[in-house]
Amino acid sequence: MGSRVAPETLKEMKGQAEPIAMLTCYDYPTALLQDAVGVDVLLVGDSVGINILGYEGPQQVTMEDMLHHTRAARRGVCKALLLSDLPYGSYDSPEDAVANSMRLVDAGAEAVKLEGDVRVLKSISRIISRGIPVVGHLGHTPQTREGSRRVYGDRASEAISLLEGSLALEKEGAFAIVLECVPERIARMVTDRLSIPTVGIGSGRGCDGQVLVSPDLLGLNDYTFRYSKTYADVSDSVTRAFSAYVSDVKTRQYPGKEHRYLIKTEELRKFEDLLK
Ligand code: KIV
Repeated sequence: MGSRVAPETLKEMKGQAEPIAMLTCYDYPTALLQDAVGVDVLLVGDSVGINILGYEGPQQVTMEDMLHHTRAARRGVCKALLLSDLPYGSYDSPEDAVANSMRLVDAGAEAVKLEGDVRVLKSISRIISRGIPVVGHLGHTPQTREGSRRVYGDRASEAISLLEGSLALEKEGAFAIVLECVPERIARMVTDRLSIPTVGIGSGRGCDGQVLVSPDLLGLNDYTFRYSKTYADVSDSVTRAFSAYVSDVKTRQYPGKEHRYLIKTEELRKFEDLLK
């Protein structure tokens, strides 16, 4: 088995032009599978709210949710870096940011991710001063998104603030930045100007790595995004399996003889005697 992925590893990967593979992970079995195939970073994202918990948006995700899912994922990770999101409202002040980052680390996270640029600089430096590595998240920021536009940075003024924000996060000590739904050319320019890696989602081919939301990749959602790629139709196989089970139970095909446990005749007799 190779060595564990650390924040410095990602910087080395950028230096060696080796793409970083990140995926969201919310539970133990998925962590085992992703870790085994060489996913570099497992992200316990606040997308857990929409994808697993049935919430309407990321703003409903609580610290308790993030701690619960971080603990579950932690039990399945050996080699990958485990990164957890600070949820909406958990880093409104630098004090909250530090306290909640420490809780995520206690639950097993090795680094935390938070959305925003200048607004969160103080929080970032305070978290890092406690020895906790930080990943930034710019571009489309779902926790504070306003309006229906998804792409961010397709206007010159936005592209400039994206670049300035990225440089500020790097200066403050973030070790990587997730760029969400940024036009490819802008994401590439930002990436080229940073010494820390960028990990894109919907930001094209110029980033140092990619991240996808696992349920999207597995075809578990009934919606798709232009940027996402569906690698399996798990929804279809799972639906077929559940439906076959219902049919088997209703028609008494399941359980069969092979699924039974037996009791010795002698013990059964004794039981029958006891009943008398
Ligand atoms: O929560 C999440 O899934 C994320 C990704 C979109 C990067 O933050």
